[in-house]
Amino acid sequence: MSLQGKRIVVGLGGGIAAFKAVQLVRELMRRGAEVRVVMTEAATHFVGPITFAGLTGKPAVTNLWAENYAGEVHVELGEWADAVVIAPATMNLMARATSGQANDVVLATLACARGDVFFAPSMHHRMWAHPATQSNIRTLTDRGAVVLGPVTGALANGEIGEGRMMEPDDIADEVESHLAHADDLSGSRVLITAGPTHEDLDPVRFLGNRSSGRMGYAIASQALRRGAEVTIVSGPVHLPVPSGAEVVRVRSAQEMHAAVMSRFDRCDVLIMAAAVADYRPEQREAQKIKKGGSLKLELVRNPDILADVGAKRSQRPSVLVGFALETENLEQAARDKLERKAADLIVANEASAALGGDTNRATLVEAASTTPLPEMTKRALANQILDRVRTLLTNPSQRPRREAKQEAPN
Ligand code: C5P
Repeated sequence: MSLQGKRIVVGLGGGIAAFKAVQLVRELMRRGAEVRVVMTEAATHFVGPITFAGLTGKPAVTNLWAENYAGEVHVELGEWADAVVIAPATMNLMARATSGQANDVVLATLACARGDVFFAPSMHHRMWAHPATQSNIRTLTDRGAVVLGPVTGALANGEIGEGRMMEPDDIADEVESHLAHADDLSGSRVLITAGPTHEDLDPVRFLGNRSSGRMGYAIASQALRRGAEVTIVSGPVHLPVPSGAEVVRVRSAQEMHAAVMSRFDRCDVLIMAAAVADYRPEQREAQKIKKGGSLKLELVRNPDILADVGAKRSQRPSVLVGFALETENLEQAARDKLERKAADLIVANEASAALGGDTNRATLVEAASTTPLPEMTKRALANQILDRVRTLLTNPSQRPRREAKQEAPN
């Protein structure tokens, strides 16, 4: 059982999905975890503490003044737990957690949590879509919490919408995979490129693409969580920097090339998630281009960063990962890239699934295998990629010994 030896606090907010927390507690225990339960006063209106006491063999704590605890129960539980899982996480509970309130046992335990923190939101779809909730979610995520769901489905009043709590089995899966990887990349230096590049035409205009940078930033934050030392070479994006990462900001492919080439020999893993422009305007006009008749642009090739690193791969890094975004013949194109750029792994995504959103569908292409993955969050995909990186790092025999073919310069 893969949660064997893990200590988990399940915290309940007052929502109708509280009854599913019973199943969650059972599932976590079935996988080997030791579980304690804390509840807000509101949660006790939906499900009784005696149920949890019966399941866990320990009293469920419903207030900070619990008489059967001698010390400070929130401090003890916060210190004890490898993970605190709030399910259901109501709009109100997350708002209070965001503002740092600690006036009940669930919030006070969260405030003292030493381990990982998870929220499984559950609420009406309009409460979920409310700007206050969305802004609170961003803040909690930026502080390192993991938000699981909600999913789209039947809500308490029979409406269908986004706001239904993730199913207990799925929550347990996520918590398990999260705790399983703790620190498995510690000691590794990971360099990640992310986002688009902007190729200037004049002082105000550029050629760009629709990459949001989310995939690269998700890999960065998961690598950090798994103990790696992380540097992001980032094109222009609007994303918060994962705490603990070093960020080198660049605009153009040439700047990204210089930033990567001056750093790659100090890293163990290079993950090129950036959507680097293949072409740039031959000339950057010093003044804003005036409108006139038709305008012809002359474009020249940018350096291929991944191929240039691939050509020097004997100097490090040990593991080289590229991305392939295509609108057709995805797998063949990925396999060509693997060969041409001397990469160990190409993450192939369809353009329709990858750009901008929070989810992605990808196929992992390696010299000896092709692994199609189902659609999943960029965070989950980041962990799948890092699982492969970890295997390649520890098994050099799975990495090719070849070098990239240098393309003819333009
Ligand atoms: O050849 P293509 O652009 O499709 O290859 C995609 C992969 O190569 C991505 O990992 C991307 O970051 C990288 N790349 C690069 N330099 C370029 C173009 C793409 O490193 N100029």
